[in-house]
Amino acid sequence: MGDSQTAKRAVGIAAAQLVESGMVVGVGTGSTAKYFTEALAQRVSAEGLVLRCVPTSRQSRALAEQFGLPMVPLTSATRPDLTIDGADEFDPALNLVKGGGGALVQEKLVAVSSREMIVIADESKSVKCLGAFPLPVAVVPFGWETTRERLKDRFGVAATLRESPGGHGAFVTDDGLFVLDLRFGQIPDPAQLERELRTVTGVAEVGLFIAVAVRVLLGEADGTVREVTRSI
Ligand code: A5P
Repeated sequence: MGDSQTAKRAVGIAAAQLVESGMVVGVGTGSTAKYFTEALAQRVSAEGLVLRCVPTSRQSRALAEQFGLPMVPLTSATRPDLTIDGADEFDPALNLVKGGGGALVQEKLVAVSSREMIVIADESKSVKCLGAFPLPVAVVPFGWETTRERLKDRFGVAATLRESPGGHGAFVTDDGLFVLDLRFGQIPDPAQLERELRTVTGVAEVGLFIAVAVRVLLGEADGTVREVTRSI
């Protein structure tokens, strides 16, 4: 197992330890969340935890079901007590870039509906300033090129239409949206940028999660895990 996989596995297992019987749990998407899902399922079968799990994507639902976790949709009666999810970047204020896997819309809906959201990540995701990772922005497919033009005109950045993994046309999210990846390089004021991006017609959701995560479980290459809280 590579160093980053060791780190991802370690944080996945550590996060599963935070879950208590009776909870509604938001289950994240991606390779780090996969380790969490597996570890959580192991605790359910070993300790008989009674849980209801809310998925953050079709992918996370399929995986959780495969591991035998009981799934429920996100409703006002199933707001998660705790959501565990990965991130593409996090800064010292624990603002996040998410959506590298294209699941940003449902991930955000679950995260903001949760009492507590904890990020699981390896060290490569820790940055001083967000923006090196291209920012995923979900847009309505209708007239998407005009949305891209508005984004380019307003922010002066390159915006690339994300393609499906097989290279057969545009990637389509679980919600039927396209994703534009915006190359900011640096995002000095993520909260302001999120507000501005949301005003652009055609933008459905932005992969900036501002003040949503309360802490990060950070995995090191040697498999140790440390907790990161907001430092600014
Ligand atoms: C999915 O859309 C993303 O937000 C993931 O949470 C993020 O890309 C982290 O993925 P990994 O855990 O695979 O690095």
